[in-house]
This record gives sequence, structure tokens and C-alpha cells, in this order.
Amino acid sequence: MNPRQIKISASILAANFSDLGGAVRDAETAGADSIHIDFMDGHYVHNLTFGLDLIPALRRHTSLPLIAHLEIANPDEFIQDFARAGADIIIVCEDACPDLGATIRAINSGGVEAGVSLNPDRPLDLVEGHWDQIDMVLLMSVVPGWGGQAFISSVLPKIAEARQLIDGLGRPVALGVDGGVNRETIGDVVRAGADTLIMGSAVYSGGDVARNVGSLRDSIAS
Ligand code: DX5
Ligand code: ZN
Repeated sequence: MNPRQIKISASILAANFSDLGGAVRDAETAGADSIHIDFMDGHYVHNLTFGLDLIPALRRHTSLPLIAHLEIANPDEFIQDFARAGADIIIVCEDACPDLGATIRAINSGGVEAGVSLNPDRPLDLVEGHWDQIDMVLLMSVVPGWGGQAFISSVLPKIAEARQLIDGLGRPVALGVDGGVNRETIGDVVRAGADTLIMGSAVYSGGDVARNVGSLRDSIAS
């Protein structure tokens, strides 16, 4: 696959929290395609990250799409708030939504693109009946909660299965993979069929962001 068709989404969970404006500017300068923001609430996962105000704050620093990954319990309570805050895509965790169809409709009615994330142990069937309403499926390749975890390679067949399914849909749905994607794993992830790579540590931990993104693109090509 042409490396240019593969989108890189920089996950700021691994960035320096004292300069998140700089982190998104660096990602944009480096040629990343979007910014991935993990909202964690201490309930759905045992970690706490950001509040809603981060979205307008980051908007002042980048024109890249801001993707809100809601790793929170009861996402339905917050969909309109995230839409109003200016998220370009809202991704909900499938197992946090008692009525996934209603949640997706709420996202779409806020004028925002909808994504659904599936944890490593959750099958693709759970998205059945929703493909026409979503813009992205996000396959988790780590258990949500922290950055810097090892890629769970048993997710690769699910990525391939999703690729096949999406290719048969007749409408574009992005196929994202989130967690442990780095220079070692990126080739397998892309070969399996992912087109949107969410990367935190590989973009922000160690070295220069532009160089990291450049060498990740080179790893896709090789
Ligand atoms: C995990 C988050 C991921 C995380 C990925 O709960 O959803 O987006 O930031 O981090 P890395 O790329 O370091 O595995
Ligand atoms: Zn995420």
C-alpha cells in the first residue's frame, strides 16, 4: 500500500502534558494527519486524563482533525458536550454503550463523525448493523488505559477481517488500530489492512517528533 494513503494519528497521551499546544503543532509540522485524544474517567479505565476544555485549547494550535477517544463510562452523557467542544470525530468504546445505535445517532446528529472502538477481546460482529452510520472502526491492540503497552498480535486477524468487510461496504470507513503501534509492529498492522495508525509513544517518546514520524513512514514503505 502507498505509505501516503496511510494516515498517522498522533496520540498526545505520550506527549509532554506541560506543552500540549507544542505537541500538536509538532505533530502537524511533522505531517501527522490527525490528533488522537484519549479521554479517561477513572471508571471505564483506571486512569484519568483530560477534560473537555482541552479540545478548544488545542484547536488554537492546529487545524488537524481532533479525534476524541472516549474511554469513559456512560459516554451518552457527554456526546453533545464533546460535539459542542469541537471534536471532529467522537469514538466510543462499544462495551460502554448499552444501545450503540442510539449513541452513534447522537454523535451524527451533533454533526460529528462517529467511530466505534473494539477492545482486543471483542469480535467484529458487535459492529454489525452499524457500518452504514460510522466513519471509523478502531481496533484496540492493547487493553485501554495506558500508553506504552506491547502490541497484542492476536488482533492482526481481526484487522484483516475488518479490511475485507470494509472493502465490501461501498462507502469509506476508516480502519484504525490503537496501541503498541511502532516501528517494529507497523509493517504487520499495515499489511493486515489498517489505514489509520494511532501512535503515542512512537511519535512522542524520545527524539524529535518530525524524525519519529518520518521514520515511521519509512517503516511503512519498507
Ligand atoms: C490507550 C489509548 C491509546 C494510547 C496509545 O488506552 O487508547 O490511544 O495512547 O499509546 P501507544 O502508542 O503508546 O501504545
Ligand atoms: Zn486511544
